[in-house]
Amino acid sequence: MEEPEEIFFRVEQYFTSTKDALSGKKILVTAGPTHEPIDPVRFIGNHSTGKMGFAIAAELAARGAQVTLVAGPVSLSTPAGVASRIDVTTADEMFSAATGAFPDMDAGILTAAVSDFKPAATASQKLKKTDAAPEIRLMLNPDILATLGKMKKNGQILAGFALETDNEIGNAKMKLKGKNLDFIVLNSLNDQGAGFGGDNNKVTFLDNKNQISGFELKSKQQVAVDVVNKLSAMLPKEN
Ligand code: CTP
Repeated sequence: MEEPEEIFFRVEQYFTSTKDALSGKKILVTAGPTHEPIDPVRFIGNHSTGKMGFAIAAELAARGAQVTLVAGPVSLSTPAGVASRIDVTTADEMFSAATGAFPDMDAGILTAAVSDFKPAATASQKLKKTDAAPEIRLMLNPDILATLGKMKKNGQILAGFALETDNEIGNAKMKLKGKNLDFIVLNSLNDQGAGFGGDNNKVTFLDNKNQISGFELKSKQQVAVDVVNKLSAMLPKEN
């Protein structure tokens, strides 16, 4: 029979060793939506609240990582222990912040719901109501995750999210490969209670070794633990 102290020691050792894999690691997290201005009072945006990305940043920081959090317009306070937070509004600003930070990082987890399009021009004055509705010409925003995938150096780990409504696994596999990721977290809008806005999420992980693992509906905090465990397992082992 082991003494309680011995058991306590082992449990403590277990938690210290899981902490160590991320301890001091520099991790970039993007979170929230982007807003693309049409004029000084209107923008193109989406329903992302940033909760999933902030929960991941919180979990990473709690496990000793040095987190750089690039946040779109959200109303969330910075999680305890996050080393640096850069607030941005547009996809172009998020692109500059993320590409500027990534070369110095051990890993990146890009959760932001980046607007794929922006108005080709932003009016300097509020657009007035006229007889005809204005036509707004759109142009593509840069793909931040794909750019980091091209910049990725040996030993860096890069993960993204995929929000899909159909052919979920097929589309997620294409994003995993096309954006040169180590793993991707698939969110299906077909899963009840999961995705934007709410407090829960249901995800599937696909990685570059062709491993697929599905999880049940969980709180975003619990999903964050799973995502961080996956990242921790994929980080290169130190000798
Ligand atoms: N992403 C990004 N920059 C963009 C668009 C997406 O960094 N301009 C990232 C997201 O943060 C996410 C992943 O790419 O981690 C996938 O985003 P998603 O919107 O599902 O895919 P898209 O590549 O935009 O493709 P589509 O909208 O056609 O499904």
